[in-house]
Amino acid sequence: MKEIEQFAEDYKDSSPQEILEYALNRFGSGISIAFSGAEDVVLIDMAMKIKAQVSVFSLDTGRLHPETYKFFDLVREHYNIPLEIFFANREKTEELVLKKGMFSFYKDGHQECCGARKVDPLRRSLSKRAAWITGQRKDQSPNTRAEIPVAEFDLAFGDGRLVKFNPLANWTSKQVWDYIRENDVPYNELHEKGYVSIGCEPCTRPVLPGQHEREGRWWWEEATKKECGLHSGNVRSQSQKSKSRFQ
Ligand code: ADX
Ligand code: SF4
Repeated sequence: MKEIEQFAEDYKDSSPQEILEYALNRFGSGISIAFSGAEDVVLIDMAMKIKAQVSVFSLDTGRLHPETYKFFDLVREHYNIPLEIFFANREKTEELVLKKGMFSFYKDGHQECCGARKVDPLRRSLSKRAAWITGQRKDQSPNTRAEIPVAEFDLAFGDGRLVKFNPLANWTSKQVWDYIRENDVPYNELHEKGYVSIGCEPCTRPVLPGQHEREGRWWWEEATKKECGLHSGNVRSQSQKSKSRFQ
């Protein structure tokens, strides 16, 4: 337990490569990169420069843009990696659409659909791992991600010992895109059409100049609810903090 907390403190100002190197060496074949967006390919690129074999997985909700599916294959081929894809929970998804149709999230929020299509396959993916790596950054969301550490225990999944690394926690969007350009990293072609943060097709839209990237996600909901369950610890730790501030 202590080791990860100490690591997060010691490496809080370290480069993403230093954090990745520690994570990959410490967990070996028990660690995997969760890949869906631009940040994650930066991590794949960095990881492959550290270690030849890197495990990568994606969650296919069944509602992604065609461009995102093309992007998955592009990355798979570019890096010659066996990308593991985890699909939505069939029973829960069938039950949901039977009861509420294909667009229930516009009426009663995204949690139920994300639960069946994203959180369930993530749980399956993580059940066989000791640690995972995400592309979360602090400046992605002032409401839910401002305080994410470079490493933490992921208490939302696993048995309490699952470790989650966020090597890009302190990077800005500009640093990510500078890295992409300098290293010829492949990216989703939707970025050329005004999209910044990309999730499922019905829940993602391009942002206008001056809008925050997160405003293109679940735009009909309050900013503090914009975590789909993959990173629910962020919401919990935020509310715990604001509670303790008022106690
Ligand atoms: S989300 O929770 O709001 O959808 P976001 O799109 O910001 O997350 O992505 C943050 C990180 O979560 C990504 O860098 C990636 O590591 C992981 N992630 C999000 N969506 C997926 C997905 N479909 N498959 C695999 N990993 C994902
Ligand atoms: Fe469903 Fe939207 Fe969540 Fe995708 S982002 S799983 S479509 S609610």
